[in-house]
Formats: sequence, C-alpha cells, structure tokens
Amino acid sequence: MTSPTSEKAGGFAGLAEGDRVAAQLYTDPEIFDWEMEKIFYSTWVWVAHESEIPDAGSFKMSHIGLQPVIVNRDRKGNFNVLLNRCRHRGASVCEVPKGKANGFTCPYHSWSYSLEGNLRGIPYPDGYEGVTEKRDLPLQRLRVESYNGLIFASFKTDIEPLEDFLGDAKIWIDRFMKQGAGFPVKVQGEHKFRFNGNWKIQLENTTDGYHFPIVHRSWMASVDAETADMLSFMTDESAVTHALGNGHSVAIMVPEHVDLEEDDGTEELQERFRHIIDELSETMPQDQVRRIVRSMHGAGYNLNLFPNLSLSMSFFRVLRPISVNETEIQHMALGLDGGPESVNRERLRIHEHFQGPFGFGTSDDSEAWDRVQRGAVANPDMPILVNRGLGREVTVDEGWKTSHVTDETGMRESYAMWKRMMSDEN
Ligand code: FES
Ligand SMILES: [Fe+2]
Repeated sequence: MTSPTSEKAGGFAGLAEGDRVAAQLYTDPEIFDWEMEKIFYSTWVWVAHESEIPDAGSFKMSHIGLQPVIVNRDRKGNFNVLLNRCRHRGASVCEVPKGKANGFTCPYHSWSYSLEGNLRGIPYPDGYEGVTEKRDLPLQRLRVESYNGLIFASFKTDIEPLEDFLGDAKIWIDRFMKQGAGFPVKVQGEHKFRFNGNWKIQLENTTDGYHFPIVHRSWMASVDAETADMLSFMTDESAVTHALGNGHSVAIMVPEHVDLEEDDGTEELQERFRHIIDELSETMPQDQVRRIVRSMHGAGYNLNLFPNLSLSMSFFRVLRPISVNETEIQHMALGLDGGPESVNRERLRIHEHFQGPFGFGTSDDSEAWDRVQRGAVANPDMPILVNRGLGREVTVDEGWKTSHVTDETGMRESYAMWKRMMSDEN
C-alpha cells in the first residue's frame, strides 16, 4: 500500500492533547492522508450488518477509508470482504450497491471472479500462456470477523481479534440488539448524505449530548410531550457517558432504556403508540407488547465504535471520509426481522422524523458540522476544546472514565485513540 510521503506522522500525534486538539486535525490534507494509513487501513472498520447480506450470494458495496470493497456471503455461509478492483488493469468489478450474484465479472475485459475472490475465467486466454496463472490473481481478500451481526474488516493481516478490539463495547452491542424484543435486528432501509466537513466532526457529534437541546430545539418542539420529556437529559444525573477504551464510548440519554429487558412495569407506554398497543394486544401477551413498544425508540444510548460506526438508539450511523473536508454519512434504520409490519413502519416514521432527509434533526446537525469546518479554517492554530466535564469525571467500578452525558468524555476517548494510532511507534 502506498504511504503518504511526509515523515511528520509522529509530529501529528502531538496535536491532540487530553483536553484539546489542534484545528489542523480538521483542515490539513496531509493529516488526512496519514489517518487513512494509520487508522482506517490499520484497524477494524465496520463494513456491513449481516441482515444486509442474508443469503448465499448476497453482497453489498462498502468502503474502508477511501478504498472500495465488496462484502458478500458465500455458499458456505462465510463472509468475504474483497477489494473492488480487478487484478488486470484495475477497473471496479462491481458497481451495484446491493444484490445477489454468483460472482463478479469485470466489465472491461471480462475477467471473472468467484464470491471468494478467486479468478475463474479469462477470455481469449492464449495471450496469457506462460505469462499468468489464474490462481495467482485473486481479488485482494481482507481480514473479516463479525460480532453479534456486525461485520468488520481490516487490511492489517496481523491485527488483534475483533473481540479484543471491541473490548467492553461488546456489553453495549449486546444490549443494543435487545431492541429486537426477541426478533433479530435488521436493516430496514438506508439513506446517505454528505456534509462539507472533516470526518471527526461527526465522530464527536454522536457523543455530544451538550448540543442536543440547542441544535434540536425544532425537533423537540415537533414531538409529543412524552417523547420530548424522554430526551430531556440535561439535568438528569443518571444520564452519563462512559469511555470504554480503544476510542469507543457510550452516551446514555435515556437511562431507563439502557437494558430494554429490564422492566419493573412502572413505565407508562407512550400514548402516541396507542394504535400499535391495541393492534398487538389482540394477538400477543401484554409483556411482549410492552417489550416491543418500550423498544420503539431503540436503545437509550449512542454507542460510538471508533472509527466509523455509531449504534445510535434505533439506527446505525456510518461515516465514510471522502477528503479532509468532506464526509459521507449513511443512516440505516433498524427494524425487527420477522416482527409485526406495523411496528417496523412506525419505527421508520420515527426515524424519518429525526434522521430522514426531511427530518427535524439531522439537517440541523449537518448545518452545525459545516459551520465547524468553515470556522476552523479561520485559525487552525487555535485549539478545539474537548474539556467539558473534565473536573467532574470519575472512574466507575468497571474501570470506565465517566461523566455527565453532556460532557466531552467520549470525544476525549476518541482523540486518545487517534493520538495512539497516529504516533510514531504505531
Ligand atoms: S481491467 Fe478488468 S478485465 Fe481488464
Ligand atoms: Fe444532533
């Protein structure tokens, strides 16, 4: 793999201190190039959820940093992550975002590859006699491992096991998937948009409780009083952020929904779901109705997995760096695989209301992200502060640094990992 030419990578690590980072982290293209190398091409990066590739031959296109990959499930049920680049003269072998196939054929000269990436066919092979052996030219295969439905890949062949990298984040992944209420969680649909800002601005945002009542005032005003009340965590002391290690963190906004299987029966179901409650009650026992309806907004937290995925209440937020000042965001709405149709529809409506292209939430967020980028170029030597709550941060029994959800504990965790990965020794 090509490396950026600068010798300065170790110097970049000095730009992130515990409570502040230099604004060049958003604006310097050379730093961006090194981030691709030392972060995105050196760690586990999320590429798919298993529900997106349910059958033998199912595939989707994805990215690791700037590089396009294909994720598929083969006939043995194994996941493969292949570089989307023909071994002949480099054309992409797949341009369909999602589908089902027996393999991939390059459109340029029709070299064809199996789901495992093996080169199966070369048209007019006589020109290659004594020159090329098919077995020597598979699509490049990446390391791939999955945890609780989440599929990750890595360019690094000697990388630590995925479960070690996730560490204590696994506890929160397991809790997150409980929103299926007994059904597997599935991706119901997705949409993408881009903003004019650096990828780390989004990484910060998912663990930024501080902006919520300010940027999302219009969303707050647009929902019923019970929903607005549920997300009024500013003065709730049990709403906290835990730093989980390796750059991961969890920001708890609805403490009573941390573990959706714990229900003491005191929480009143929201009246806005009356039509669902009535419908489900015709065929389901009350405890299952409660389980589904309490999970309608998803888990009560955002789990940030460094560097590119957030399990965010009831959806996945995936970030893809495009350049130093452009980032693509993918939102994937989650539902119950095999669950009641009306429940999945309701979950989609909730998603649209905040995260959708015409939603009240994300459009306001992305305006703020653009403005961070526009402002940060004004004086890149002036630091970005991530010190909120430093004076009240404690370490809880699990060993996690913890502070209020409006504090910047999760950002400090991400930047500590950034610093580690960008340092000379790494
Ligand atoms: S570039 Fe793919 S077959 Fe020639
Ligand atoms: Fe937001």
